[in-house]
Amino acid sequence: MNILLIVSGSIAAYKAADLSHSFKKAGFEVNVIMTENAAFFINPITFETLTGNKCIIDTFDRNFDFKVEHVSLAKAADLVLVAPATANIIGKIANGIADDMATTTIMAATCPKMIAPAMNTAMYENPIVQDNIKKLIQYGYEFIEPGTGLLACGDEGKGKLADINDIYTLVMRKISHKHDLQGKKVLITAGPTEEAIDPVRYITNHSSGKMGYALAEAAADRGAEVTLVSGPTALKKPLGVDTVDVVSAGDMAEAVFKRQKEQDIFIFAAAVADFKPVDTASEKIKKKDGETPVINLSRTVDILDTVGHSRGGKQYICGFAMETEDLLKNAEKKLEKKNADMICANSLRDEGAGFKSDTNKITLIKKKGNKELPFLTKRELSDLILDEIVSDIESND
Ligand code: CTP
Repeated sequence: MNILLIVSGSIAAYKAADLSHSFKKAGFEVNVIMTENAAFFINPITFETLTGNKCIIDTFDRNFDFKVEHVSLAKAADLVLVAPATANIIGKIANGIADDMATTTIMAATCPKMIAPAMNTAMYENPIVQDNIKKLIQYGYEFIEPGTGLLACGDEGKGKLADINDIYTLVMRKISHKHDLQGKKVLITAGPTEEAIDPVRYITNHSSGKMGYALAEAAADRGAEVTLVSGPTALKKPLGVDTVDVVSAGDMAEAVFKRQKEQDIFIFAAAVADFKPVDTASEKIKKKDGETPVINLSRTVDILDTVGHSRGGKQYICGFAMETEDLLKNAEKKLEKKNADMICANSLRDEGAGFKSDTNKITLIKKKGNKELPFLTKRELSDLILDEIVSDIESND
């Protein structure tokens, strides 16, 4: 696999050195082309040392074996990444200008192209730049949104080159994962819910959200359009996923039902509270001597059950069952009762499984029979769960 990194003249050019190194470390062949202005910010020798390949700047550089270099680099590339991309290079690409090695090579490349802009906020927000970006998106270029913060020019706002770890992840997502969920809409619930007793206290559980977040990331890596409806967690939001933050079971149900019709796949990984206080006190409940307070509880709406019994024709539904005893029997009952296609059964009794852990032990429960998955990380298990879902959907088509 070959990545062609194009570096244009922004102060963020130095960050591209780390990117080229990460791609190289991951085993990719990396070629770098710099614009002449980029060479004011970083020396080509940096890239040559990190990638082991000549870093090319000028179209008429005579100092290498003769090939029509812009065409051969374009042909060899499996992905072109322009990072950082200035307003100038975006403008040139959008308007068909090819007046140096970087822009001629981009024009000659037929592989996927990603652009990570970096510029001053006013330049980024300039309608001409925004029009150029829209035009390139229409032509199939993928943009990696810049970050917001203190810019090198001293201004505060949007325009910082996106975090290079995020750029790396998005490039990997594009280049090295199978895209068997491309075009599919996947809704995932994750984390615990909090059911308020009063403004200070609530009922919750030990869920960390790790399983649902790992599933969301895995589905996005495979090209799905993912909505993650998340209870309160301390986890970083997965890249490129539409995360909807909710607090209570009621909020989670509302967020799911609102988006129910358009989904292809549901994965209910949240540990939704089964009960909530009948009344939430508007003021903090004070303790009184000799009095033991009683909290009356009522059932929350069962989201999986509701979606399972109002599902559209081809919608696929996967639930979870966390048990402490009779794992398989209880999970099989849930599959039937909630009208799901699959239940991922996990036991709190298995070492390294369950809440907060990065690993899990899951048995897939389906009408056709059960499948025990190996003890793996939640991220690895996510891919096996998605493999099963994709294969079920394909065999039903
Ligand atoms: N679930 C849901 N809405 C709820 C409760 C649970 O969507 N109000 C979903 C969970 O996300 C999970 C599955 O249902 O996918 C868990 O089933 P459930 O019967 O709630 O498991 P437990 O809470 O463990 O139930 P029980 O007390 O019967 O064991």
